Order: sequence, then C-alpha cells, then structure tokens
Amino acid sequence: SAPERLLAIETSCDETAAAVVRRDGTVESSIIHSQIDMHAEWGGVVPELASREHALWIVGVIDHALSTAGVTAADLSALAVTVGPGLPGSLAVGVSAATSLGLGWNLPVVAVNHLEGHLFSAELGEKPVEYPAVILLVSGGHCMLVHAPERGEYRLLGQTRDDSVGEAYDKIARELGLGYPGGPVLDRLAAKGDDRYAFPRPLAAQGYDFSFSGLKTAVRRRVEAGAFDLEDLAASFAAACCDVLLIKLLRAIEECGPKSAVVVGGVAASPILRNRLQAEIPPLGVELMLAPLKYATDNAAMIGAAAWWHLERGDAAGPALGIHPRLAL
Ligand code: KG4
Ligand code: ZN
Repeated sequence: SAPERLLAIETSCDETAAAVVRRDGTVESSIIHSQIDMHAEWGGVVPELASREHALWIVGVIDHALSTAGVTAADLSALAVTVGPGLPGSLAVGVSAATSLGLGWNLPVVAVNHLEGHLFSAELGEKPVEYPAVILLVSGGHCMLVHAPERGEYRLLGQTRDDSVGEAYDKIARELGLGYPGGPVLDRLAAKGDDRYAFPRPLAAQGYDFSFSGLKTAVRRRVEAGAFDLEDLAASFAAACCDVLLIKLLRAIEECGPKSAVVVGGVAASPILRNRLQAEIPPLGVELMLAPLKYATDNAAMIGAAAWWHLERGDAAGPALGIHPRLAL
C-alpha cells in the first residue's frame, strides 16, 4: 500500500525546519534549527544571513528529520514546502531543496502557504478543530482574524494596519535592551508586574482591524519619561495587547457564531494570552483550540498538516514551484 507519510520543509524566516507527518496528523519528527542566536547580535533577522544559514543547515535538518522518524525516501509519498509569505532568499532555499528532492525521489511537491500552515498548527493538538471556526493568527509577521466556515475555506475579517503583535513585542524589547526575540522575555517580565500605566487599546471600539504602532509609541514615550518599573511596563503593554486581541476575537465570535475559536502563531505561545483565552472563551460555549506550544512558533509539522489537506483535495503541484514572498492567505 502507498506510504502514508510526507516530508515537510519550512524556511520562510529564521528557522530551518523539516518534519515527517503522517496522513492521520501524527508527527513522526519535527526538527527545527533556530538562527535566533545569530540574529540576536543584530537585534533582528538579517535576510542575507538568514538565507546563507538556511543553505548551510537545510540538508542536515532534513536528514535529521528522516532519521528521527526512522524512515527513508522510500517511505514517503510526497514532499511539502512553504512557498510564501516570507523572506525571498530564505524561501528559495527551502523550495530548491524540496523541488530537487522531488525530482530525485520522483515525489509530488505540495506548495504550502505559511499562514495556512499556522492555521493548521491547531490541528496538531489532541483533537481536530471543529468548524465553523474563528481563527486569530498572531505571529511576528502577521496579525489577522479569519472566519473559516469549513476546513480550508477562509474569509479574512481583519488584519493589522501596521505592526503585528509579535513585531510590537520585539521592537519594544529591543528598545529596552532585552534582546531578540523580545516576545518571550517581555512576557516573562509581564507575568510579574501590574497593569498600571494605562496604555491605549488601539481600534478597540471598531471592527476587526488591528493597529499596534500607536501602542508601541505610547510605551516608548513612557520609557523616555524615565523612572518606570520594567515589570509593570511589560505587564501594562501585554494587557493592552491581550485586551485588543480578546475584544476583536469576542466580537468575531458573537458575529460568526463558530463552534471553535482557534488561536495560533508565535504570540499564541504567551502564557498571559493563553490564560486570558482559557478564562474567557470556554464559558461562551465555544471550543478553544490553541496551537500546541511547540507548534505555535515556526515549524515544519504545521506545513505538513496543511499539505495533507491539499493532497486529500488533489492539489499536488508539479516540480516547477516558485516562491511567493508576499503571498496572502
Ligand atoms: O510564528 P512565529 O514563530 O514567526 C512568524 O511567522 O512571524 O512568531 C514569532 C513571534 C516573535 O515576534 C516573538 O517575539 C513572538 O512570536 N513570541 C511571543 C512569545 N513567544 C514568541 N510573544 C509573546 N509572548 C511569548 N511567549
Ligand atoms: Zn510564522
């Protein structure tokens, strides 16, 4: 019988990742080589360095994913790769690796949208997502609310007009000299502080769009004013972010009446956000589906999960995949 597993590759930003995923969603391996330490020296991702590092690591990471799963090319029925959105040079490394292997191993290569990959990270939990769903994607590159009447069908409700939440976290942390990426560090400080600096909740009163640059400026002004408590500052910033995210998500739940609320992306790794969601969503009778912690930030397992969905629908692509740096959902 046909092998029931695929090899997925993800290189859209600063993690070189490969995973072996079975048709039933079982992740047999998920290997991630993070470039964070290298980029931290520069205070953010340097695209040229990122692509060189991907080129250096991609074959080793793929090899490691196969050996960890205990499989070889003969056990695979397809390959999957992120084609966008992301950094062009970084995407190109993953796409060339996947197309080369597809040619050599005579396997179909499935093109996967990174954003859709994040949406499918919620399917890697204990139980499948029930649709209709409202999905909040909060990562370093994106902040969007999506209504999914069915699996694989997306209606964009709103997105950020400027920075993503993760980007605001990272920029503020950088100004405070807390290093890169700033999300996890700021979040840990926030857990110990109080929300007492009354930062704005941008666009809270209207619709589904987000804006975080004004909030970022408000935090910067407070920092420049001096004599602030770092933990309280972090707590006040995190509270403002969570308030806005919750207000919009609850608005979408009220309007769309979904069975599930799905929260995915790097910022969904925040314990502060997870706790607020756990406290506020289930009492509404809506199933809260969070990306499992290890699949909230960038990884290849989520790309594999999204690819299986496309394979089931017969969407396998040919060997001539391009990259799509500005691909939308
Ligand atoms: O999904 P992801 O790995 O990459 C993108 O596709 O963008 O998200 C990375 C983002 C970074 O901005 C990082 O600061 C943020 O997620 N992040 C967090 C936490 N862990 C990662 N933000 C807040 N709290 C966290 N614990
Ligand atoms: Zn991502």
